[in-house]
Amino acid sequence: MSLRVILRWPDARLRMVCAPVPEVTPEIHALAGDLLETMYAAPGRGLAAPQVGEVCRVFVMDTGWKEGVPQPRVFVNPEILARSDDTVTRAEGCLSIPGVSVDVTRPAEITLRWTDLEGRVQQDRLTGFAAACAQHEIDHLDGRVTFDRLTAEARALAEAQFVDVSA
Ligand code: NI
Repeated sequence: MSLRVILRWPDARLRMVCAPVPEVTPEIHALAGDLLETMYAAPGRGLAAPQVGEVCRVFVMDTGWKEGVPQPRVFVNPEILARSDDTVTRAEGCLSIPGVSVDVTRPAEITLRWTDLEGRVQQDRLTGFAAACAQHEIDHLDGRVTFDRLTAEARALAEAQFVDVSA
């Protein structure tokens, strides 16, 4: 495993729609290891492959480690099968937009299907923070960041805030 450089918005690679992974190869295992190591070091609770410049549909998430209950998870080719009608608004940060958190409204619960590192198809219903985090990471796989979920007015304010903190 190795630490990877996390790309920062507005890097053009964060806008690319990632390609599906045809097969879980040793390279995908290595990428997943790199993503987890880089996520923990950042420190964060989710990281998507395009954030380290790999334009493929892989993300990692660990919603418990900051509370002392590590649960590293790797998602290959994630697909949202169902979304709840009820929504929730949370302040979301992003490792590619350090220092800026913005309120994003998303479905409160999702049903997610993905392939694990053993090549098995998995399915789970995600709620709470995990649901928001997975949707945030899948947005990355589709070339979207939190800013793309904002109104034009809120986006302009958030972008100005990022310029300030990175100056
Ligand atoms: Ni992010």
